[in-house]
Amino acid sequence: MADYTIGLGNNDSQTRKRADEDYIKFWAEQAKNLYWFEVWHDTLQWNPPFGGWFVGGKLNASYNTLDVIVQKNPTKTALLWEGEGGQSRVVSYNDLWIEVNKFSNVLKSLGVQKGDRITIYLPMVPELLVSMLACARIGDSGSKIVITADGGFRRGTIIKLKEVIDDAISGLDFIQNVIVLEHAKIPVALTSRDKKWPDLMKFASPNCEPEKLESTHPLYILYTSGTTGKPKGVLHGTGGYLTHLYSTFKWIFDIKDSDVYFCTADIGWVTGHSYVAYGPLLHGATQVMYEGAPDFPTPSRMWEIIQKYKVTIFYTTPTALRMFMKFGDGIPNLHDLSSLRLLGTVGEPINPEVWKWYYDIIGKKKSPIVDTWWQTETGGAMITPVPGLETISLKPGSATRPIPGVDIAVVDESGKEVAPETKGYLVIRKPWPGMLLTLYHDDEKYKLVYWSKYKTSYYTGDYAIKDKDGYFWMLGRADDVLKVAGHRLGTAELESGFVSHKAVAESAVCGIPHDVKGEAIIAFLVLRDGYSNSETLKNEIVDHIRNVIGPIALPEQLYFVPRLPKTRSGKIMRRLLKAIAKGDDIGDISTLENEAAVSEVQAAFEEVKLSIKKNQTR
Ligand code: PRX
Repeated sequence: MADYTIGLGNNDSQTRKRADEDYIKFWAEQAKNLYWFEVWHDTLQWNPPFGGWFVGGKLNASYNTLDVIVQKNPTKTALLWEGEGGQSRVVSYNDLWIEVNKFSNVLKSLGVQKGDRITIYLPMVPELLVSMLACARIGDSGSKIVITADGGFRRGTIIKLKEVIDDAISGLDFIQNVIVLEHAKIPVALTSRDKKWPDLMKFASPNCEPEKLESTHPLYILYTSGTTGKPKGVLHGTGGYLTHLYSTFKWIFDIKDSDVYFCTADIGWVTGHSYVAYGPLLHGATQVMYEGAPDFPTPSRMWEIIQKYKVTIFYTTPTALRMFMKFGDGIPNLHDLSSLRLLGTVGEPINPEVWKWYYDIIGKKKSPIVDTWWQTETGGAMITPVPGLETISLKPGSATRPIPGVDIAVVDESGKEVAPETKGYLVIRKPWPGMLLTLYHDDEKYKLVYWSKYKTSYYTGDYAIKDKDGYFWMLGRADDVLKVAGHRLGTAELESGFVSHKAVAESAVCGIPHDVKGEAIIAFLVLRDGYSNSETLKNEIVDHIRNVIGPIALPEQLYFVPRLPKTRSGKIMRRLLKAIAKGDDIGDISTLENEAAVSEVQAAFEEVKLSIKKNQTR
């Protein structure tokens, strides 16, 4: 095997050693990198399965990401913003600080108080960060105020965000105000509850004292899919979460003052929260923020941005890389990518072939790749190379080893660690600082989803193998969760989306391998009496899914079938549907309620496959 030993000259064996000796003491050392108004009295309060980190400590996320940096280096560039249409804006830490202070005062003047919740629905623009940090400044976690824009740009078209919000909140009387940023410069209908961003900011004072918040004060809620129909509100705290991000951002990216960092994630997802908003800003890093689609207006957009801003660290997803790879080597080769020194991936397993392409063609065989495994719930990266700390030999396709201070294992059904090279469930055996506080307003579900399969370990829902060198290889989800273009979608959530359409009686979805998206959604629907198979109905159902779940959930293929294969206890056999869809051997079907259903599904599948192939791919 080729040698992919990476090291950035760092060989700090002490950090890992200290972490192994006493992980609680170790994280307390790391937390000292943040600015605390008051120091904590308990590093970890562990009331299984609820963990409170740095309890009694008081801090503020916006103070740590802005004031601390501004005091040292106010003119440092925070954002190199690039609009989809090619516009740029340069925002310094001082600019960001002023805007956040003013906007915090705006929110206060609208009656927002510590503990309130705010909904943010903005495109990737600097004001999105301003809004998040203003909420953090005044101690707010996420809905009596909604912050949005007139519109945002995506693939050259304008998405009318304000219209979407008006629809979403009609009848919700508890929404007191909607703040509207003028970004796309399109006309919008405004009522008395709507306030324009510039009107509010015009007279706002640029000084707003940050709230001194408890370390366990909620910072934000992010909704993510699970195995049930309803998305789960993952609630993150402040002190532990920021400590995790401060440390991992430094260890993984070895961030230097001169770096230009570019993470392609949307802030609406956890990667954007952790490694666009908080991680880089805690370190006073300069980063590129891009508003639009990665391949718009041409497939060279990312490489143009890297060349234009001399990006040194590029962090993206395997899905994006698979798409870029399909466009061919010629496109990146036309650009000067020599500024790059470190590459990263996140969100799904990266196939070794894509890994090598990334390494050879984008990194020109000189930039290490950090494959970072983590989850919305873990807050920050958990299994990843840490070239900022130590030299490691990479293995394409493996996220390598856990970061210092976390305890991760592969176990069997009974919770016993399996032998090396054996497939099992990935679990986290000790609390870690970035861990979720709970599921918003649902402690029971938090216990059930993560802490009931194994009582003393956190269940990740992933299959993995640990090889004999201690490297982890992720083998996808063990539960009914699909990973479509790196986004998590629960089969139950998708299925309830389908049956919420009036024509659909029953639905089953499964994921099949897709060469760009990793997994694609395939849906089998049983229609209600009175409805019949037609292209119009199909399109209507697809539009319905776009509205109720989002464009990410659009099925690659959709089949109307007379009935679904189920076990005797009534569980839909998704494994079987998947096998049929992939053309695999169906295997043992002795538990089927009605074997005929399999052949019916198969027949329906073949029929549809043959007749309307070109209409199936969306
Ligand atoms: O299955 C794992 C996969 O993504 C899941 C978490 O999804 P989400 O909460 O949306 O967070 C994505 C961004 C952190 C995990 O349970 N996953 C994430 N990173 C990797 C991965 N699978 C393999 N390799 C990775 N590097």
